[in-house]
Amino acid sequence: EKGGWSSFMAKEISEEPDAIANTLLGRVHDGTVSLSELDPLGADTLAGIERIIVIACGTAAYAGMLGAYAIEKWARVPVDVQLSHEFRYREPVIGDRTLVVSISQSGETMDTLMAVKYAREAGARTLSICNTQGATIPRESDAVLYTHAGPEVAVASTKAFVAQVTALYLLGLQLASIRGSLSPELIAEQVAELAAVPAKLSEVLQSGETISQLARWMADTRSVLFLGRHVGYPVALEGALKLKELAYIHAEGFAAGELKHGPIALIEPGQIVFVVVPSPRDPLSLHPKVVSNIQEIRARGARVIAIAEEGDAAVLPYADEVIRIPLAAPLFEPLLSVVPLHIFGMELAAAKGLDVDQPRNLAKSVTVE
Ligand code: BG6
Repeated sequence: EKGGWSSFMAKEISEEPDAIANTLLGRVHDGTVSLSELDPLGADTLAGIERIIVIACGTAAYAGMLGAYAIEKWARVPVDVQLSHEFRYREPVIGDRTLVVSISQSGETMDTLMAVKYAREAGARTLSICNTQGATIPRESDAVLYTHAGPEVAVASTKAFVAQVTALYLLGLQLASIRGSLSPELIAEQVAELAAVPAKLSEVLQSGETISQLARWMADTRSVLFLGRHVGYPVALEGALKLKELAYIHAEGFAAGELKHGPIALIEPGQIVFVVVPSPRDPLSLHPKVVSNIQEIRARGARVIAIAEEGDAAVLPYADEVIRIPLAAPLFEPLLSVVPLHIFGMELAAAKGLDVDQPRNLAKSVTVE
């Protein structure tokens, strides 16, 4: 039930901190991760995995992209993310040292199910990350790691997305522990970062009113662009997808580094661009690069809405609006920066008088190929 909320989506966005906390529950203790759900795969098999392929559709695929950054960094295993419906037609190179991780909120998406079956027949190990107990995809997989986001009713996925990212991060840390690629101290550091996310996210939810105001101002907008770099890139893609799905606005997400290779040609006066800004403390030093992207688009008349860390003053001279997120280590920032974009999509749809829970032409789970 909606319980006083204007829509299921509003309720589900408010539950994003809990979705993360509940997905961590019982799986982290004293700075360590223990996922007994992976036992059916065997620790030896996991230690010997040479490649991971993540398969998913829609929002779940963007969660997969975020997971890929974390798993590669922590467990030092190459990770590819492929759309389920593309995967098997490319004759993927897979074998018994490949782990295929499927992500599906419903566990019933036909394209993902068929991809899992294909992977299993080709000899791969299969792990399902799923939000629905006893669904078909987990039943067809060697092991299942459930996300505990609770039932998601709105067609556009929100709380399941952050729970999927959380589950993938736990998987990355568990693999790092099995494979010895991260010291126990570094694992404990990441666990602490992850455990701190729900409280920070509750703070982000407080900025909901600013975002809905922004959305009301933009109700007539015909096109919105989203830029992000590194882990901000999947966030940009997710922000764009939400606007298409919910508000029927043409929206595109780009990797900020691609700007000068094409998308900058789209910038004309008044074009709205959301920019996911990495932390100025980021050891990868991406912050000045993204700030310079902002300068480039601003000089061409773009209206810039920056999503930036609290205290980041470098964005102020160039941004028309700044949405603040609390400080977090780089890999954890997306769990905070994505939520204002979920709110924005919902509020813009609401400002246009649209049904945010049941967008036209879409279904919660697509059970045909
Ligand atoms: C789409 C939904 O049809 O399916 C998206 O509209 C969702 O919100 C996608 O991300 C994948 O669904 P699932 O259940 O496999 O995660």
